[in-house]
Amino acid sequence: MTVRSKLLRTSTFRLAALYLILFAVSVSALLGYVYWNTAVLLQEQTDYTIQAEVQGLADQYRLRGLNGILDTVQRRSSNDSRSVYLLADPSGRRIAGNLTSLPSIPDDESGWIEFPLDVGNGATRERHTARAFYTRLAGGFELVVGRDVEALRQFADIIRQTILYALAIALVLGLGGGLLMSRNFLRRVDAITEASRTIMAGNMSGRMPVAGSNDELDRLALALNEMLDQIESLMAAMKEVSSNVAHDLKTPLTRIKARVEAALRSGSEAEYRSALENTVDESDRLLDTFNALLSIARAEAGQSRSGLVAVDVSELIADVAELYEPMAEEEGGTLTSATAPGLHVLGDRQLLAQALTNLLDNALKYGARDGETPVITVTAAPEDDKVVITVADHGPGIPAEDRGRVTERFVRLDQSRSKPGNGLGLSLVSGVMKLHKGTLLLEDNTPGLKARLVLPVWHPEN
Ligand SMILES: Nc1ncnc2c1ncn2[C@@H]1O[C@H](COP(=O)(O)OP(=O)(O)OP(=O)(O)O)[C@@H](O)[C@H]1O
Ligand SMILES: [Mg+2]
Repeated sequence: MTVRSKLLRTSTFRLAALYLILFAVSVSALLGYVYWNTAVLLQEQTDYTIQAEVQGLADQYRLRGLNGILDTVQRRSSNDSRSVYLLADPSGRRIAGNLTSLPSIPDDESGWIEFPLDVGNGATRERHTARAFYTRLAGGFELVVGRDVEALRQFADIIRQTILYALAIALVLGLGGGLLMSRNFLRRVDAITEASRTIMAGNMSGRMPVAGSNDELDRLALALNEMLDQIESLMAAMKEVSSNVAHDLKTPLTRIKARVEAALRSGSEAEYRSALENTVDESDRLLDTFNALLSIARAEAGQSRSGLVAVDVSELIADVAELYEPMAEEEGGTLTSATAPGLHVLGDRQLLAQALTNLLDNALKYGARDGETPVITVTAAPEDDKVVITVADHGPGIPAEDRGRVTERFVRLDQSRSKPGNGLGLSLVSGVMKLHKGTLLLEDNTPGLKARLVLPVWHPEN
């Protein structure tokens, strides 16, 4: 497709052309109206006064005879330079008037004639157009009454010319403007197309050009850029996850291999047995890791929110706390829960329970300083149109600078390396929050960690 045909096919150009046609039609209508109201009406008015004068003279002739009008014609023809008169006898000879001879009379019976008129204007002579009415009076006398209509004709010409020029200028400007606008539009669309091609070719950091005018194309480009940012960060996250997964699965597999090899070398029955037992344990842990990863992926993908139901938060907390209270007591600590009744959120009960379990699991694992016993509190309270579930402990807490990254997959802080874990617990919590349009906030419990789940409240009536 050539550049020109591409230009003509843009929607901008078509729109401009449509407007041009509309504009040309309205300009023509307007100027036509002006023309009608000036030139045409002026001519009609002239015709009307000529006819009235002829009528007057004819009446005078009927009443007072030839002498009655002879006088009038003579007087008027010497007074008024813009008017032409001729009174001729039946043989066509001039009796009175400022025309030298009878102009040629067409046979169309209408009585209107137009003829060239020599006008003396000082030393120069000009040729004007005269328009006159011709009548034959009773007795064969001929009467011509007319006006010099040169000025009128020139005026009409000027108006006609103005109309043509105005139309031509409107067409040229409209066409030029349309082409210019389409070219500008096309150039920007081409730039966006070009940018998307380079991105498709693998340059993920490429972005759509933004002109900075904040027009519709800019808004489109900005929206596309936001989408690209999102895609890029998702791809980066995916890359990181896969390398993390590879790394974190490699370690236990290497461990299993080393144990089994050592057992085989030893040749002792007892060693075989312990290696097999150890393999079962490690496999269980691997399976747990896999399951956690799958749950996170499912929750983050925002799997069908249509499957969400109203979940009673107090009930949920009571159930989970019942499980964890004995564990806390086993370590000599306490777990207390306080919830406002009747709080509901729209959610997946099992995933919410899993999220709460992960937080309690962390509180039990990390929620006590060395030599102390865990003191854990679970609360749920309404806050504006949110339900806030809080799990708090009095342990070392998470330093502010680490709070952002602990929710990433496989991230574990150095201080916790001695405890078992994969670093997936908080990732799942944050994935579950994403699915529920909620947020996980990690705050300082001075001392300790305060993990808050902020979820949109659900009212039974809707
Ligand atoms: N209550 C807490 N107090 C102090 N540190 C915490 C607390 N909860 C989490 N952390 C820190 O955040 C890290 C990430 O927690 P997360 O629950 O994601 O993983 P994990 O508990 O190490 O392993 P997993 O939960 O997969 O068994 C932990 O390793 C720990 O360093
Ligand atoms: Mg955990």
